[in-house]
Amino acid sequence: MLKLVQTRARSLALPRSTNTFAYCRALATSSNSASHVSVLGHDYPRDSHTNITSAIIHKLNKRLHLQPSHPLGILRTLIESHFPKFSAFSDMSPVVTPARNFDDLSFPADHPGRALTDSYYINKEYMLRTHTSAHEVETFKKGHREWLLTADVYRRDEIDASHYPAFHQVEGARIFHDTPNSMKEIEEDSTRLSAYLASSNIVIEDIPHISATNPVQPSHDSVKAELIAKNLKLSLNSLMLHLFGGHANVNEGEPLRVRWIEAYFPFTSPSFEVEVMFHGKWLEILGCGVVLQSTLDRANVPDSIGWAFGLGLERIAMILFGIPDIRLFWSKDPRFLEQFAPGTINTFKPFSKHPPCYKDISFWLPSATFHENDFCDLVRDAAGDSVEDVKLIDSFTHPKTNRTSHCYRVNYRSMDRSLTNEEANAYHDRVISELKQNFGVEIR
Ligand code: PHE
Repeated sequence: MLKLVQTRARSLALPRSTNTFAYCRALATSSNSASHVSVLGHDYPRDSHTNITSAIIHKLNKRLHLQPSHPLGILRTLIESHFPKFSAFSDMSPVVTPARNFDDLSFPADHPGRALTDSYYINKEYMLRTHTSAHEVETFKKGHREWLLTADVYRRDEIDASHYPAFHQVEGARIFHDTPNSMKEIEEDSTRLSAYLASSNIVIEDIPHISATNPVQPSHDSVKAELIAKNLKLSLNSLMLHLFGGHANVNEGEPLRVRWIEAYFPFTSPSFEVEVMFHGKWLEILGCGVVLQSTLDRANVPDSIGWAFGLGLERIAMILFGIPDIRLFWSKDPRFLEQFAPGTINTFKPFSKHPPCYKDISFWLPSATFHENDFCDLVRDAAGDSVEDVKLIDSFTHPKTNRTSHCYRVNYRSMDRSLTNEEANAYHDRVISELKQNFGVEIR
């Protein structure tokens, strides 16, 4: 069947799908009509922005990345061990202000990432961070100049094996004093890294550090910006070698292949994405760039220049450990958890899959403001992790009335037990009744 659901990149690089400005107040205010919402032990007044769901609130504070034998914890430790001189943070609250998440990083006022359809808001003043870059300004402000920060991040999204509204990122940054001595220090570090990479089994497809489409910042000296970008590339190429060397190829002895691509982020320039060839396919691994000077000015370190990167842990862990479904990271099933040990990358042995249970639902879209993410959050609230994926299988616009109807196919399949048809029906009935109640939709 045709998959109409568009798979969207998870980076905050570019404005996302055009249909993202829909409002989702109905869902927001539905699941709980109380005047306050309780998040991590704090009561916040609800307002027209509130769209955090109870399914998401239950994901907070799980600290998966701090468990030493969990694939996310193993990966965090591996990355931290690659940057031994960097300070490592992993305990920042996910509740941030939109100012921290967006304004501090110079996101334009109309950036789609700010939309209620894309991010979880507690109310107008607080939200769940959508990326670890939200902590850049405060971390630099505290005086840290070389640091890593690992955290859970939240984005409203579709439902399938590789998308989940909660995931983890590692942010890394390094800034240098803008002095001749520091510039010499960077050059020495880069020379050391170049020699190491030259003697390693890695093939790198590079692009210019600076170009007309990936420009140096107006306030930067282009020679210094080049030095920073070069140091960034060398540091991340060697991280890629540390993470993927010996794991990326089916045939032993083949080189690791890494390629650099021009990118755009509101808070870096020049900006890049890194891809790694894994089992014959290019996979996007991280975003990075030269930190915008305005970020450093806000952090009270205006006399510095440096780089930052952000990578998604689940994506890398799925590849490295061969984990087929992103829901598994949240599983408490010992058949999952007992397969991993600190410091070890081993291939996950899937336990038998339980049978899928497909249920379709067709309805006339309630209004132009209904967004697919509203439907996905509603399904997650009703069925939790017992939903494996949601696909839009048909879309029809009536030629006379101009009304549009959608048909979604929901696959109810738990990872740790077999669902009975009655249980799947009960979940589905809940989806239908919530849809009617919250959006007043007409089921076909
Ligand atoms: N925060 C970006 C994202 O989530 C990644 C990034 C981090 C890009 C740091 C540049 C610098 O997509």
